[in-house]
Amino acid sequence: MKNNVKVNSNIPFNELPLLPPDNAKIETIAILRQVTLASIALAELKGLAYTLPNPSILLNAVILKEAQMSSEIENVITTHDKLYQALSATGKPIDHETKEVLRYREAMLTGFNMVMKKGFLNINGIVSIQEILEENKAGLRRLPGTSLKNSITGEVIYTPPDDYDTILLLMKNLESYMNETDVISHLIKLAVQHYQFESIHPFYDGNGRTGRIINVLYLCLHGLLDSPVLYLSDYIIKHKADYYRLLGEVKINDNWEGWVLFMLRAVEETARQTNNQIKSINGLFLKLQDKIKENAPKLYNKELLELLFEQPYCKIEFLVDRLKISRVTASKYLSGLEKIGMLQSKKIWKETIYINIELFELLKR
Ligand SMILES: Nc1ncnc2c1ncn2[C@@H]1O[C@H](COP(=O)(O)OP(=O)(O)OP(=O)(O)O)[C@@H](O)[C@H]1O
Ligand SMILES: [Mg+2]
Repeated sequence: MKNNVKVNSNIPFNELPLLPPDNAKIETIAILRQVTLASIALAELKGLAYTLPNPSILLNAVILKEAQMSSEIENVITTHDKLYQALSATGKPIDHETKEVLRYREAMLTGFNMVMKKGFLNINGIVSIQEILEENKAGLRRLPGTSLKNSITGEVIYTPPDDYDTILLLMKNLESYMNETDVISHLIKLAVQHYQFESIHPFYDGNGRTGRIINVLYLCLHGLLDSPVLYLSDYIIKHKADYYRLLGEVKINDNWEGWVLFMLRAVEETARQTNNQIKSINGLFLKLQDKIKENAPKLYNKELLELLFEQPYCKIEFLVDRLKISRVTASKYLSGLEKIGMLQSKKIWKETIYINIELFELLKR
């Protein structure tokens, strides 16, 4: 379908073309070359994720980081320390922004479980992801008045469709596009569906964040990843001006190539970064394993070490639950590992939390 409709940024774009776009526009030579690079990096990531001592180590860390970065694009700022504290020191009151980031994490996990269980991602699923994120049941937009403004100048950049039936029709078309496998690479389709979702802008708020969750779920849906371990939002926030500009240029001058290349580079760079992080985590696991074996051999227990990687902010209860040991033994383990410098204890609220310091530093990056 040709995208030759003139767009006026102040008028609701009810003429947003249905998918798919012309193949010639999204399968240029430059794009196909970049697809190869992104595929290689992503395939390496898919494989490397299995080399971790425990896959949930990365899953926890990446989802938290993705949640943090993606929310930062919306100016919801919290720190890694606050996030881990909120998950471990459960009695402590949590500030509003940290709660919002944790909701992002919950929305992402809910979406992932849905995709794995059902094998598809539909409109209802997308609505429920946004519901968790925004903590309201407003659903798809029914009232006009939504527009995207430049946060500094207040100038209107884009006004999405405002007619409910049009929004529903566009969403059904997007749903089919997302779930079908055709001749176009899923990495190219990833870029196309993200553009379309943001352009439909089906919700009153949270479209950016819902769309970024869908991106990672899309990769899982089509087997490009086995778990949502790619934090694309890190790249997006670093290149936010280009991200906005290129989303706009598809409509303004049909620049599909620029947009698709941007998303493919995001996949490639982020996958590489995650690959290096996995290698560092694996290296650290072996290093700490040796350190315990050398300095406190009686405290060496593989399951315990794995737990300390899964929960970089650990506490006695976690050991009691997982290892089925008494509080006294658990406490001996943790304070013993603190003595050899592997953990650092911190009193948070009314609890003592033991931080796997080197791992935490690594995960923050
Ligand atoms: N010209 C454009 N066309 C389509 N979508 C756009 C355009 N410019 C920006 N967007 C999308 O709109 C999103 C912002 O929409 P909204 O405020 O509903 O989402 P959010 O999740 O609350 O915010 P944010 O994305 O800033 O976190 C941007 O993240 C981007 O994905
Ligand atoms: Mg918003």
